[in-house]
Amino acid sequence: ARPDPCTVVLFGATGDLAQRKLFPALFELSRANLLPDHFAVVAFSRSQLDDEAFRRHVKEGLQKFARTQPLDEAAWQRFAPRLEGISGGYDDPASFARLRERLEKVAQREGTQGNQLYYLATPASTFPQILHGLADAGLLSREERPDQKPWRRIVIEKPFGHDLESAKELNRELASVLDEKQIFRIDHYLGKETVQNILVFRFANAIFEPLWNRNHIDHVEITAAESIGVEGRAGFYDETGVIRDMVQNHLLQVLALCAMEPPVSFAAEDIRDEKNKVFRALRPVEGREVSRSVVVGQYEGYLQEKGVKPDSRTPTYVAMKLSVDSWRWEGVPFYLRAGKKLKKRMTEVSIHFKSVPIGLFAGEGATCQRLQPNVLTLRIQPQEGIALSFESKVPGEDVNIAGVTMDFNYAESFQKPVPEAYERLLLDCMRGNATLFARKDSVEQAWAYVTPILQALDSGEGGTVHTYASGTTGPQAASALLARDGRRWTQL
Ligand code: BG6
Repeated sequence: ARPDPCTVVLFGATGDLAQRKLFPALFELSRANLLPDHFAVVAFSRSQLDDEAFRRHVKEGLQKFARTQPLDEAAWQRFAPRLEGISGGYDDPASFARLRERLEKVAQREGTQGNQLYYLATPASTFPQILHGLADAGLLSREERPDQKPWRRIVIEKPFGHDLESAKELNRELASVLDEKQIFRIDHYLGKETVQNILVFRFANAIFEPLWNRNHIDHVEITAAESIGVEGRAGFYDETGVIRDMVQNHLLQVLALCAMEPPVSFAAEDIRDEKNKVFRALRPVEGREVSRSVVVGQYEGYLQEKGVKPDSRTPTYVAMKLSVDSWRWEGVPFYLRAGKKLKKRMTEVSIHFKSVPIGLFAGEGATCQRLQPNVLTLRIQPQEGIALSFESKVPGEDVNIAGVTMDFNYAESFQKPVPEAYERLLLDCMRGNATLFARKDSVEQAWAYVTPILQALDSGEGGTVHTYASGTTGPQAASALLARDGRRWTQL
């Protein structure tokens, strides 16, 4: 359905995220005619920007980052008049009063009916100021009914807190001015087509789900390998590290989608309820136990990145073993790894099935008797697709066996580009559909899981930070983590 008429109020409009992701996504939605007919973007910025300067800035970004290049000039001409800028301070009540006046004018002129989506793409430290600025200016009203009009919603970018306490504090701040239904916590992994497809693959097909448990699955691996480094974000990254940057949010969300029970329906709350049960079932890891289940590393050269503290111990790589204490998953380890400056970019989930109970093919004449267990690979990116590996007889007189693959590839099967995560997520906020957003309780559960790990690593109790050379598969110790269990990581 087309979203309601609305104004998107963007905080942090001159920042990196807005330029790389948010404007390209809005532009693409506009180009595809998916935005409401009555629509405007008002950028609230601390830098002095008049409408013309602001549009120029957006256009420059689109020329680099829009999904289709070169920039579709006709589409830009339609999009540009919908953008306007207003400058002000986050701690200045007069600025919010001016914002309110501006929004009233925009609503009248553009017919956006007073529906407002506030997008906070600013550093987390500014969230409370902005929330209170909006509330004090009367720009937020708590919805009492889901169908309340005009609606007011908030989109919060990560990092959603720094640890469990700060995440709870931020949730309390939000709850003081908004109802949970008005809050959209972005995790862009949930907007990826391939991540959304995890639930469709599991629950729109009858053949996999009966096998999707401890009786048939040996272990699950989730990998998010990047070849890039910290890319000019060293200041932010050095305070964050890979566990906060990738595990607390993206990878635990992916794990929950793989591990959850079938929901009662496909409605947001039903799906979020099931995901939350997975978070609650994660077996806590803390203190010295961390050194046995978690391996962290830092790429060589990280300390020389501009903005990194010279003695920083911030990890850029993590490998970890998690257990989900549930009937379905008892005894099935989930191994997660994520890192920067690795051999290649590869994000995927692989489900490793159990071996056959006996080797029938070890007789005379047979040559390849080490049967490989079946692996189902959900390729999140790149080369988005799904593959199932199995054993096959090599044609010939002897019983020779070799591994082969059945492969589904998005690009071949659908022959259209996979939309960017932010396109879908922005559209869903405007439609008021929170399915692909993280709920308060699951964000806190995820922090409750990673906070003791972060603490153990900080205190040194959790083990050392290994170094690894750029362009490799990460520290050796990560291989040892699996080798102890008689397993190996999928090759990068
Ligand atoms: C972001 C992290 O959330 O996700 C980045 O802050 C990381 O450090 C990025 O590079 C990875 O996203 P994607 O979509 O490229 O897998």
